[in-house]
Amino acid sequence: MSLAMKPRIKTTVLRLISIILSAVFVTADSAQLLDWTVSFSQRAPLGIPKQVIVINDQFPGPLLNATTNEVVNVNVHNNLTEPFLITWNGVQMRKNSWQDGVQGTNCPILPGQNWTYTFQLKDQIGSFFYFPSLLLQNAAGGYGPVRVNNREVIAVPFPQPRAEFDVLIGDWYNADYQDMRARLDGGSLLHLPDGILINGLGPSQATFDFEPGATYRLRISNVGLKTTLNFRIQGHQMQLVETEGSYTAKKYYDNLDVHVGQSYSVLVTAHNDESSGNTSYYMVASARFVPVKMLGIGIIRYSGYQGVPLAPLPMGPMLYDYIYSAEQAYSIRWDLAVGAARPNPQGSYRYGNIPINRTLVLSNGVGLINDTLRFTVNQISFSYPDTPLKLADYFQLSDVFMPGLIPNTPDYRRPELGVSVIDAVHREYVQVVFQNNMRFIQTWHADGYNFFVVGMGFGMWDESKMATYNMVDAISRSTVQVYPLSWTAILIMLDNQGMWNLRSQNAESRYLGQELYIRVKRVGQNDPSTISPWVESPIPKNVIKCGRAI
Ligand SMILES: *[C@@H]1O[C@H](CO)[C@@H](O)[C@H](O)[C@H]1NC(C)=O
Ligand SMILES: *[C@@H]1O[C@H](CO)[C@@H](O)[C@H](O)[C@H]1NC(C)=O
Ligand SMILES: *[C@@H]1O[C@H](CO)[C@@H](O)[C@H](O)[C@H]1NC(C)=O
Ligand SMILES: *[C@@H]1O[C@H](CO)[C@@H](O)[C@H](O)[C@H]1NC(C)=O
Ligand SMILES: *[C@@H]1O[C@H](CO)[C@@H](O)[C@H](O)[C@H]1NC(C)=O
Repeated sequence: MSLAMKPRIKTTVLRLISIILSAVFVTADSAQLLDWTVSFSQRAPLGIPKQVIVINDQFPGPLLNATTNEVVNVNVHNNLTEPFLITWNGVQMRKNSWQDGVQGTNCPILPGQNWTYTFQLKDQIGSFFYFPSLLLQNAAGGYGPVRVNNREVIAVPFPQPRAEFDVLIGDWYNADYQDMRARLDGGSLLHLPDGILINGLGPSQATFDFEPGATYRLRISNVGLKTTLNFRIQGHQMQLVETEGSYTAKKYYDNLDVHVGQSYSVLVTAHNDESSGNTSYYMVASARFVPVKMLGIGIIRYSGYQGVPLAPLPMGPMLYDYIYSAEQAYSIRWDLAVGAARPNPQGSYRYGNIPINRTLVLSNGVGLINDTLRFTVNQISFSYPDTPLKLADYFQLSDVFMPGLIPNTPDYRRPELGVSVIDAVHREYVQVVFQNNMRFIQTWHADGYNFFVVGMGFGMWDESKMATYNMVDAISRSTVQVYPLSWTAILIMLDNQGMWNLRSQNAESRYLGQELYIRVKRVGQNDPSTISPWVESPIPKNVIKCGRAI
């Protein structure tokens, strides 16, 4: 009798545990299982055939369309001839850097192998994208859009648009990405791109269907390697509503600078008068801050109209007008009155009142290391060890990286290779200043976090500049531009435990070493294998091991 009871008690206990667990972890409203095969395919977006990375035969790859709290499983099958990983640009992977898909957090999926990413979308809505993070593979495509939708109970601060479009814009090279990589390895920089693609298509190939009078949401991301693009639509204004998971103050723009790695949502309302029936309009993404004219062109068709739009193409700002660009950036503000993933308004988080614990000044540059051109942060050029940092940390392999190797402020040492990891305490509130000493624009992206873009200025940053910061309604985002010979300051609340990549989103600079990692953990937490799942997700059951982590 008592023996027969035992399994029942066991089930009850298990059930109880699972109830407790589901109450503590945000309950998963639903889950989706996606199966993605990554392979090469010959495509010729600009008329010249090239080996393109496609996902399920699509370029750009399929839309990842998910909702806050949803669990997403993506089984990625690597059918390339090289190792592969996807990273989710702007998706925060709360407490779960195990799923971040960069070389410092994951061992690669080897050719012929597959690996299932499993993550829950938490406390986040908005527009993002994914891309291949290894070996300059994003020069061959492999990217795609990510939408994180609001749960039904959460209000969206604008009327439901008639439809949504993902608009992936980016510079494009006709060269094979492996040849481009060899060029960088050989110490030369990339040429200018050959053109600009919209949704993987060349000039006038991408089309978007509007109905007169209806409003559409365009989710625009710059998925390119290094070129800032100015986005605009002939005869239409764009109302900016969201960027990288934050709702913006609703302002109208004729054109919008989208820097590499950035995402925006705009609402566009189609005209509705007697002349608006059978017409079409140009959509343009033009290269900024480069010495040549380069345009991506799409077409908006009213009621499916097939005819070409009337010339001329809409004009953008002057090619090198940095002031225009910086003033536009300054005009993009957080909407304090509305909620995002949660019902409480964004403005209830008063980021300007929190004492700053620490300042990091990250100065970027180039240098010759062992006679090879490398990009640096505070003179260190990141060089990957054979074991991902996250795994080295977990298995306590103490000699893979040495936190503190990279100085917190530039000390103008000789450039060197190194594994840059900055240690931070959970919930430290950090000011990061990106000092761009180069004559070209940069963008910086933080995995795992959004941050407040409180200030930008020309010249060298010093503490006196803090008096100029926007401490009220600065935008919160994950990717920010740094103008040439200028600085950008951000404030970041390090409340997401894990190993997080902070990178130049310029693919060339990053490939040549301009990135680092921030390790965020609690004080006194010494054995990573005993971390409670309340604090950080446990090592995935399907984790791939490599290097010295075996
Ligand atoms: C994305 O998901 C939302 C919420 O489930 C759904 O309403 C919408 O139709 C989906 N969009 C696409 C393009 O699948
Ligand atoms: C890619 O897929 C094809 C067809 O399924 C298969 O024959 C080939 O071995 C795969 N290649 C790799 C590297 O996995
Ligand atoms: C690989 O894919 C198979 C199904 O195709 C799946 O059962 C298995 O769990 C996947 N492996 C990993 C490590 O995700
Ligand atoms: C130059 O290369 C050698 C051998 O690869 C390496 O040991 C050394 O650290 C490198 N020098 C610098 C300055 O990184
Ligand atoms: C940050 O500074 C505040 C105010 O000085 C202090 O209360 C807090 O403990 C510090 N946090 C960390 C993580 O050091």
